Amino acid sequence: MLQIQNLKTEESLLLATTVVSLISIPSIYYFFNNKKNGKAKAAVKQEKEFPKPTIVPVSDDFDWEKQTPYPYRPYKKGPYKMNLAIRKLDPNDIICIEDTYLDRVTLREKLFDEKKLSGFHESALDSLKETYRFIFNHLLQRYPKYFTYSNDKKTIINKIKESSVPANPSDLSGNELLRIIASNIEEDMLLLIKNNDEGEPDEYVLRASTSLFPAGFNPAQKMNLPLTKIHTPVPHYVEKLQTSMNKFFSRIKPYEFIIRNNWSIQTHTNLCAPTGSHATKEEATTIHPLYPQDLDFNKVFFRVEKQCFTRLPETGSDLMFIRTYVTSLMDLRGSLTEEEKEILCSAIDGIMGDFAIYKKRIQWGEAAKAFIMGESNGSNPVKTKYTFVS
Ligand SMILES: *[C@@H]1O[C@H](CO)[C@@H](O)[C@H](O)[C@H]1NC(C)=O
Ligand SMILES: *[C@@H]1O[C@H](CO)[C@@H](O)[C@H](O)[C@H]1NC(C)=O
Repeated sequence: MLQIQNLKTEESLLLATTVVSLISIPSIYYFFNNKKNGKAKAAVKQEKEFPKPTIVPVSDDFDWEKQTPYPYRPYKKGPYKMNLAIRKLDPNDIICIEDTYLDRVTLREKLFDEKKLSGFHESALDSLKETYRFIFNHLLQRYPKYFTYSNDKKTIINKIKESSVPANPSDLSGNELLRIIASNIEEDMLLLIKNNDEGEPDEYVLRASTSLFPAGFNPAQKMNLPLTKIHTPVPHYVEKLQTSMNKFFSRIKPYEFIIRNNWSIQTHTNLCAPTGSHATKEEATTIHPLYPQDLDFNKVFFRVEKQCFTRLPETGSDLMFIRTYVTSLMDLRGSLTEEEKEILCSAIDGIMGDFAIYKKRIQWGEAAKAFIMGESNGSNPVKTKYTFVS
C-alpha cells in the first residue's frame, strides 16, 4: 500500500493518512465478503451501490505551485508479482493539480497537435461528453480557486492556464472533446465500452483515448481492441491477469473509485514514449547492460503510473485515468533511507524472467542499483533539474 515513510511534508502525511483510512475500511469489507463468507456474500457485494461522492474543495491556502507531486513508491521487496493490486481511491484524488501542472498541460497540448496518439470510435461520443462533464465538474468542485464559470456561465475559466473552455460539451466534436481534455489535465484518459459486436470477444474495448504520455505502447494501435488484445505484449497476461482484468472491468460500479500503480525505470527522457520502454525476446539478445558511468542519473527516471478507474453513471462506460509521475534517480536516491534503498534494489532484482526483458531490467538494472547504492555517481554527479520537452 502507500509507503508513508517516503513522504516528506506534513500535508502529504495527512493526505496519506486520510487515503489509508479511506482505503482500509472498504478493503476490510472486501476481505470478509470475498475470503470469509464465500459465494453468497460475494454475490451481495456485486449488487452494492455506491453513493455519489461529495468532492471537497482544497483549502484556501492551497497553492498549486507549492504542491509537490505525490510520491507513489509502489515497489516491494522481493520478486515482482503480477497482480492487479487494486485499492480504493479517494474520489477527491482522481484528478490532481500539482506543481507540474502548467508545464505538463502545455506539453500535452503540443503533443496532441503533433502526434497522432488520440482517437475515438463514433460509439464513444456520448461517453466522451459525459467524461468532459465529469472532469470539469471535478475541477470546479475540487479547485474552485482555479476553475470557475464565466459570468454568463457559457465557459469555464482555467485560471492557471489563463484560458477557457465551453461549459457545455453538447456541440463539440470528438476531436474537440479530446483536445480540451488532453490539454487541461495531466492525466491521460481512456474509455472502455463493453463489446456488443457479435462474434467478437465478450470484453471491454478501448473506444476513446487521449494517451499522450504512453510508456512503451502506441495508443493509436490499441484503439478498438478488446482488453486481451491490448495486453498482447505483457508476458503471462492470459494465464495470470486475463480473468481478473475482465472481471474488474465488468464489475466496477458508478461512483466506485479504484486506484492501482505500476512502475519501472527509464533511461530516456521522454514522457511521450510510444516506443523505447519495453523489449521483446528477440531484442533482448542484442541488449547490453548499461554502465553506470555512462549515464547521467538526472536523466534516468523512476516512472510510476497512478491508474484510476470508475464507471460513468449515465453511459455506463468504464473511465480510466493514467497519471504519470517521473522522478530522476538523482532525486529519488536523495530521498531514500539506506533501508529504503535496499528495498528498491531488491525490487529491481525481483523483476525476473520474461519481465526482466519486458521492463528492460536486463539493460538498466545493474547500473540503477550501482547508482542507488552510491557505488557510482554516473557521468554527472551534480544534481540538475531536467525539463521535459517530449
Ligand atoms: C504500466 O503497465 C502498462 C501495461 O503493462 C505498460 O504499458 C506500462 O509501460 C507500465 N508503466 C510503467 C511505468 O511501468
Ligand atoms: C559520489 O559523490 C559523493 C558526493 O560528492 C562522494 O562523496 C562519493 O565519494 C562519490 N562516489 C563515487 C563512487 O564516486
